[in-house]
Parts: sequence; C-alpha cells; structure tokens
Amino acid sequence: MPKLTIRDISVSGKKVLVRVDFNVPLDKERNVTDTSRIEAALPTIRFLLEHGANVALVSHLGRPKGEVKEELRMDPVASKLAEMTGLKVKKLDVCTGEEVCQSVDSLQTGEVVLLENVRFYPGEKKNNPEFAKELSAGFDLHVMDAFGTAHRAHASVAGVSQYITSVAGFLMEKEIKYLGSAVTDPEHPFVAIIGGAKVSGKLEVLGNLINKVDVLLIGGGMAYTFLKAQGHSVGTSLLEEDLVDTAKEVMAAAAEKGVALLLPVDNVIADKFDNEANIQTVGNDIPDGWMALDIGPETVSAFQKEISRARTVVWNGPMGCFEMSRFAAGTQAVCKAVAESSATSIIGGGDSVAAVNRSGLADSMTHISTGGGASLEFLEGKTLPGIAALSDNDSAVSQS
Ligand code: 3PG
Repeated sequence: MPKLTIRDISVSGKKVLVRVDFNVPLDKERNVTDTSRIEAALPTIRFLLEHGANVALVSHLGRPKGEVKEELRMDPVASKLAEMTGLKVKKLDVCTGEEVCQSVDSLQTGEVVLLENVRFYPGEKKNNPEFAKELSAGFDLHVMDAFGTAHRAHASVAGVSQYITSVAGFLMEKEIKYLGSAVTDPEHPFVAIIGGAKVSGKLEVLGNLINKVDVLLIGGGMAYTFLKAQGHSVGTSLLEEDLVDTAKEVMAAAAEKGVALLLPVDNVIADKFDNEANIQTVGNDIPDGWMALDIGPETVSAFQKEISRARTVVWNGPMGCFEMSRFAAGTQAVCKAVAESSATSIIGGGDSVAAVNRSGLADSMTHISTGGGASLEFLEGKTLPGIAALSDNDSAVSQS
C-alpha cells in the first residue's frame, strides 16, 4: 500500500515533529565529520518551512542507553545544521514537556527547533506508549524522514503514530521508491553484488534476493565460507566454519532457481592483515598462513561482464579490505563497473556507500541509501517499523 507523504497533505500552520537520522560521526572535538545525513534531510525541512509549518527535529545520536551522556548531546549537530542552512536552530536539552510546546509555538520564520538526543530517554528504545504520547504532545503531525532508523521499532520512529498521523518525508519516499522497486518490481537482468566480512550478517538478504535476482555476485570476506563449502582451502581467510553447510544450501537454492551465483575465481592474498604485507594473486586454493583480502583481476572481469548486462544492480558490501590501498582494487573496479552501467543502481550498506563516496563516483549511481541496517533489512524483505507506521495513501490506491 502506498504511504502518505508530506506532498499529500496540507502542512501550513501545523506543528510538525520530524524524525530525522542525525546519527552522524563526530571527531574528538565533537565536530561533525560527515554531513551527508544532515544534507539528506534538508529537502524535507525546507519544504515544511516553505509551506508554513512549525518544525521540531528529533534524532538519536549514538547509543546512550537511556541516560544522558554529555558527549552525545545534539549541540554539534545544531551548529552544523545552522551553518549548512542559515536557519536559526533552537537546540533544546529535552524532548518532551512544556518547553518543547512553547518553543515550537513561538517559532519565527527561518527558525527550527532541534530536540535533545531522544535516546537519552529509556522509553525511546522500549517504544513505551507513555513516552510516545509525551513526545507527540503539542504536535499535529509526525514526519518520518529517518530512513537509517526505520528498522527500529522505537517511540520517535513508530510509537508516535499511535497519537498523531505519521507521513513520509522526501528521503523516506525516495528510499522506499528505489529499494522497494528493486525488491518488488526490478527490471531484468537483476544483478545483486553482495560482499562484506560475514555470511552471518547477509544470510537473510541472500535468502530473499535469491528469489528475485538473475545473477548473484559474492565477494569480500564472506566469499571464503562459500569457497570452503566448494572444497577449497582458504588459508587464514575469514571463515565461518559453522555456516559452511548453510553456504552449500544457498548455492543449491541458487542452482535450483536458475540463479547464476558467481564466487571469486582468483584472489589477492597476504601473509598478514597489513597494507605492508607480502601479497600475491592466486586461484581459489589459498596456501596455509595466507589470507585473501581482495578479489583478483579475473574475478573483476567476470563480475564486470555481468554488471554491464544488468538492468538493475543492488550492491551491498565491499569486495575486500578496501580501507587498505593494496586491497582496494576489487571494490574500486566493481564500483566503476556499476557507475558505468546503464542499470538502475542501488547502493546500500555503510561500507559500500563509503567505498562509492571514496571513489568519487557517487553521482553516477541511481540511489545511494542512507540506511545501513535499514537497507539490509529492506532487502531481506522485512517490514520496517518506521514504514509500517506511516499512514496509507488510500487515494493513491483507488486512483491506480
Ligand atoms: C545507523 O547509524 O545505522 C542508524 O542511525 C541506526 O542506528 P542504530 O543502529 O544505533 O539504531
């Protein structure tokens, strides 16, 4: 069912609580070091302000476990938001109560309220109904734009929708559009590139995508559990011994469904986990004492060939330890291939997004998800609480 967005309702004169994901990285001096999540929320904030709403933003920052942690206050985010937008950001030290209502009531043109870190309240993570009620008090509308947190059934994400209508902001709308169409109605050939360190973190995604994709490319540390399952020796490469049988099942399921599952055919191996290690490129039998840290050039060619034929590409997880320059080539080459392909390309997951940003090819991707865990759960086919809580757009259904 399509969901209501801020475009579908009148926001003029409304007091609006906007759940954003300002869970941004901070350095030792508590400066925001990556503003992409703030930037991603700006279209929604600007739209609401331009259409006459009184706006209060609420987010979590880090994992303070239900208590006030000075180092996790939202003040640095408030300063950065003010600097980026020219808005006057009235940062409060609370999320609920009279002070919030008064501040929101008295907002002038060019001003927004930023509430304190909502995870300072134990009721947030517990999705406590009382807390959700207090959080929504004084507001007419909840706008959910925190896609990165949409997989959390927390009060500010989902619980408030019991008390005020919850609609999607533009970021949520965009994420649902691209990830949703990849999962429900992809153009074929559909190629999924799945990498990263562990099979365990990606099992459900593999299980779901195997029913949808034509080609599954597996790289990164997780590939070695699959190669082990094929009977190869993997040296000291990452291996989840207890998942070797599961890897066999995934390969059998792919074969049964006619999905082409490609594993590395060559590997860049090192004698220690270090950018200065001795390295060599070998086939799939990795000698004792050596670990695979990147896919090799033949694997890159095979993966490039599949990517160039795709109409839809979903990429989650790097192909190797791309943080170390000598093991970054595989991830970079895959990134370039995705950027050059004419397919709809959807990048999800923190590490693959970091790799794309580092490569300078971000503008060539169709959609880069702001959600790590959230995009993964979406691709697993799960219903995200922050999406489920949004009001349905009944008229969109009757019109279609
Ligand atoms: C994220 O950074 O992935 C989101 O902000 C969610 O944070 P969490 O994993 O602490 O819920």
